[in-house]
Amino acid sequence: MIARLNATLRRLPPGAVYLLGLLPLAWIVWLTLSGGIGVDPVKGIEHRLGKVGLWFLAGGLTITPLLRLTRLNLIRYRRAIGLLAFFYIALHLVAWVWLDMGLLWRQAASDLVKRPYLVLGISAFALLIPLALTSNDASVRRLRAGWRRLHRLVYPAVLLGVAHYLWQMKVISPEGWTWAAAVAALLALRFPGLIRPSRG
Ligand code: HEM
Repeated sequence: MIARLNATLRRLPPGAVYLLGLLPLAWIVWLTLSGGIGVDPVKGIEHRLGKVGLWFLAGGLTITPLLRLTRLNLIRYRRAIGLLAFFYIALHLVAWVWLDMGLLWRQAASDLVKRPYLVLGISAFALLIPLALTSNDASVRRLRAGWRRLHRLVYPAVLLGVAHYLWQMKVISPEGWTWAAAVAALLALRFPGLIRPSRG
């Protein structure tokens, strides 16, 4: 079953994942233009971009455990998924600076003081920048073992991203707790010895 799925996936080029990954953006644009984004369109856009970014970020973290536990091999899509996460979080940041703050830097600075969870989001984004910049074959070759070490920054980035998400809620919702538990589980799976490879 998994072998057949892997064989089918081999026919799906990573380029297709980039295209599929743009579908949520098309959906957000469609909702905005059709008036279905909600009573507060700025919040509607901002929140959806943040959520899609979080999905891709967490999606990238599921690839290794999926391979180890089920032998489902999505490794060649990992770069696309990571870059899509970066893309949506960058758009989420742009939505805040541009749509929410109207490019008024002084207002943005006072918003950061008023809503400290934004600082967590910005810190998470800052950690993702070197990862996005080195997500290419030349950097993998040039940095060698350092590349793997550098890309471990994704773990604190996800933690900060989730902390930012939970903190911006007045009361943590069941969805928030589910995200916290899912990300905690994904990170726990990274510790060696916690998961054994499947024999199938
Ligand atoms: C890894 C980085 C980040 C992740 C994973 C993330 C994720 C999220 C999520 C999931 C939400 C709530 C969406 C919802 O309730 O449906 C959110 C809200 C928000 N985020 Fe982020 N975010 C990140 C970085 C940033 C950055 C860099 C900024 C820019 C300052 C930012 C600004 C905001 C704002 C303004 C809100 C709305 C808060 C409110 O309505 O009070 N986020 N974010």
